[in-house]
Amino acid sequence: MAAAAAKKLGILVALLALLVGPSAGLLGIGISIGSGTDCTVFVGWPLPVILRSLICGLLGQPYTPPIWRDEPTGAGLSVGYYNNPRNTDAYCPGAETAVRNAVEKAIYQQGRGIGAGLIRLFFHDAFVRGCDASVLLRTTALAGTNTEMEGPPNKDSLRGFDVIDAAKEATKAACGNRVSCADILAFAARDASDILSGGNIRYPVPAGRYDGRESFAKETGQLPGPDSSLQELQMMFAAQGLSTADMVTLSGAHSIGQARCLFFTGRLAAMDSDYARRLNTACNGTGSPNNRVDQDPVSATVLDNQYYKNIDKFVLFGSDAVLVSSPETKQQVDVNKANLTSRWESDFAAAMVKMGNIGVKTALVPSETEIREVCWRVNA
Ligand code: HEM
Repeated sequence: MAAAAAKKLGILVALLALLVGPSAGLLGIGISIGSGTDCTVFVGWPLPVILRSLICGLLGQPYTPPIWRDEPTGAGLSVGYYNNPRNTDAYCPGAETAVRNAVEKAIYQQGRGIGAGLIRLFFHDAFVRGCDASVLLRTTALAGTNTEMEGPPNKDSLRGFDVIDAAKEATKAACGNRVSCADILAFAARDASDILSGGNIRYPVPAGRYDGRESFAKETGQLPGPDSSLQELQMMFAAQGLSTADMVTLSGAHSIGQARCLFFTGRLAAMDSDYARRLNTACNGTGSPNNRVDQDPVSATVLDNQYYKNIDKFVLFGSDAVLVSSPETKQQVDVNKANLTSRWESDFAAAMVKMGNIGVKTALVPSETEIREVCWRVNA
């Protein structure tokens, strides 16, 4: 049975590789085969995923749809959670400072890009299984090593894991194993936002999350991709209980950090021609798909509203440019661009808190939740 399916798959792969060719990327939607019989929807991620999508569809395999969530309230979380002596098992007054120091040290030693990595890590954690640090796991009981970090949006892409590990060690040195990796991620993203914005984005983080014990690569299909249409972006944020306004606000994180050429060389023609020429040189045409460029050509290392000024001719992804394709989102882009009242910075802080409320696990449930000893593996 398994051998027959494998043979069928092999023939289909060969046929599709011949038939589909590079034009498949234009379809902009795909389904990827997981390690078992599951297929997961991957919206907006380029070719290899598309190819798998077609195979998956032809094989008639089921796929894992996103979990639809209500607007996340963060019930059970509280600001200053580790400072509260009444939270006996969690009391750790040095926790937030320990994380802050680890983030500062990493930015000092590795550069500001690592701060961008931490903010993205938090987003990628939140959208898959909620904020439970599932993105950090290298191995679990059910997924083996095929965890979220192996999924197409994450593989060879995410950075900042070392900073979280260092922060975890620092919190343990301060008070033992009391601070969850999920909370460390939320604190680290907050601290990175503060530092990269020059103090313009500063907010308290409600805490009290427990860590999850599972992580599956196939579930990373719940993350939007650089070719996602506006409708797909809206759908994927709505699935997490976030609004279109939250989506536009949070996309402003693309005013920092870097991206690989493979995600944008397909749309150089739609960009400012000088900028496109520079990008073309940086990417060696399409010859160096894994080269990285700054996302924001104006203020690459500052988390600010420049992103909205860059739309749509100076942003890298189709998913950035589409934000001016509807009156509703364009209006918000225009408001953020003008930023007369520092509006975007406070919106961003609020949206980060809201994203941090997604799917939080606030109770200790044996074999489901825990405070991990080490952030990249579940407790024995
Ligand atoms: C709206 C849908 C989004 C899409 C389609 C998207 C897609 C991407 C892609 C393709 C990259 C480049 C990855 C690579 O080259 O390896 C990237 C980078 C990045 N994204 Fe997003 N993203 C989205 C939303 C967000 C959100 C909500 C945040 C955080 C609040 C975020 C923060 C970042 C950061 C900081 C980077 C740079 C990371 C680094 O330099 O290490 N993105 N994004």
